[in-house]
Amino acid sequence: MKKSTLCIDKHFIVGDVDKRIYGSFIEHLGRAVYEGIYHPESPFADERGLRKDVLELIRQLNVPVVRYPGGNFVSGYHWEDGVGPKAERPEKIDLAWNVIETNQFGLNEFMDWTKKADTKPMMAVNLGTRGVDDAKNIVEYCNLKGGSYYSDLRRKHGYENPHDIKLWCLGNEMDGPWQMGHKNALEYGRTAAEAGRIMKMVDPSIELVACGSSALTMDTFGTWEDTVLSECYEQADYLSLHQYYGNRDNNTPEFLANTVAMDEFISSVISICDAVKAKKRSKKSIHLSFDEWNVWYHSNEQDQKLERWCKAPHQLEDIYNFEDALLVAGMMITMLRHADRVKVACLAQLVNVIAPIMTSDTGAWKQTIYYPFELISNYGRGTVLNTVVKAPVYESVHGDAPYLDSVCIMNQEEESLTIFAVNKDLEESMELSCDVRQFTGYQVKEHVVLTHPDVKAMNTEENPSNVAPARTGNAKVTDGILQTVLCDKSFHVIRLSK
Ligand code: AHR
Repeated sequence: MKKSTLCIDKHFIVGDVDKRIYGSFIEHLGRAVYEGIYHPESPFADERGLRKDVLELIRQLNVPVVRYPGGNFVSGYHWEDGVGPKAERPEKIDLAWNVIETNQFGLNEFMDWTKKADTKPMMAVNLGTRGVDDAKNIVEYCNLKGGSYYSDLRRKHGYENPHDIKLWCLGNEMDGPWQMGHKNALEYGRTAAEAGRIMKMVDPSIELVACGSSALTMDTFGTWEDTVLSECYEQADYLSLHQYYGNRDNNTPEFLANTVAMDEFISSVISICDAVKAKKRSKKSIHLSFDEWNVWYHSNEQDQKLERWCKAPHQLEDIYNFEDALLVAGMMITMLRHADRVKVACLAQLVNVIAPIMTSDTGAWKQTIYYPFELISNYGRGTVLNTVVKAPVYESVHGDAPYLDSVCIMNQEEESLTIFAVNKDLEESMELSCDVRQFTGYQVKEHVVLTHPDVKAMNTEENPSNVAPARTGNAKVTDGILQTVLCDKSFHVIRLSK
């Protein structure tokens, strides 16, 4: 059996977890909005057409922030089409996803929905086909009290009080040649600086996320971040990262080793942010917003066959398996290990589109990836400890990959310590020990395990708990040493408290 050790000291901390690291994303794409969160024809809809069964599952996930309305969609979007009387809203083509957008759900409906979902908005502006002027108008519509054209328009639409949206994205994936209004780094950096400057003139209390690279593999990675930040350092508060992984070669160890690549991505972006900071002799640090991350590949082939110009098709409907859930847990652990800089992150996406939650006419159900997200979001709040992982490694295309991904989070208020751990070994169990003598009187309260004999096992609407967590762990503290055995291919949540 393999052996591993976690070394922690309650004085050696990475940083406090910003709860927005447990954010998610709803784009006008496929059935995310229509049939996902908004479905007036459904027996599960409330008086506004919002799906109550979906809201219930989202509340259990404890998602503090939701990015909207895109994604690629935002780069061709006219938000004015989605406000005001529904009968007057135009149906338009969406060139990001080759569909018809009915605009029956828009900005105000989204704001109503955020309240019911116990979450806050992260609003993206169109810096693709539109620009600075439009970015100004939407902030005015959302955040000014009244007495101006756009703020009064909102009031006329039935929203007397401002929406007071605090977090804004300056466009989406502007480095991507697929993006409507794609720009080079200098063009985007200048646009982001001017849009950001004017948006903050309208409401100085807002925070802004500038677009970083769409993936670590983009040819422009690095120079993009450097150039963009050199232009908009003063206006930006965060720089975005996006990354999706897929097991296209059906090589599970390589697939699970992607946490190494993600860690490298985060560290590299931090280095670039800090290099620009040094060049500018700035006192301000740019934080990271990992505002699109997930597994995405299962639906790629099927999506090639979609007819153009339909409404809310089944698009990007990945059905996840157990190994995807393990990687999702690993990705969350990786971001938490950088909690001092990763302040916002969005699981892309939330419902029906590469999502933890799926809907049908007969209900809503949980995919495999729902469970690690739910557990980490609910229990991963507090202060991240610098967790030194001593574990065997295996060779991967990303270099040495540890068999164990892990992080410890201390919550002083609740007097608790939580360990998240993924054993990536597909065949062997692993002994884990951790000296917790500093946490006097702490005992294991709960040891939850997510495992399955088959890495390809999936959940379905009929059986949404085929892959589901159970309290089957055996962790215990003896003389101040926590010990347990992590069975092969498994994710663990070990909760200690006084
Ligand atoms: O989340 C799906 C798509 O992935 C988003 O629209 C885009 O930003 C990214 O390429």
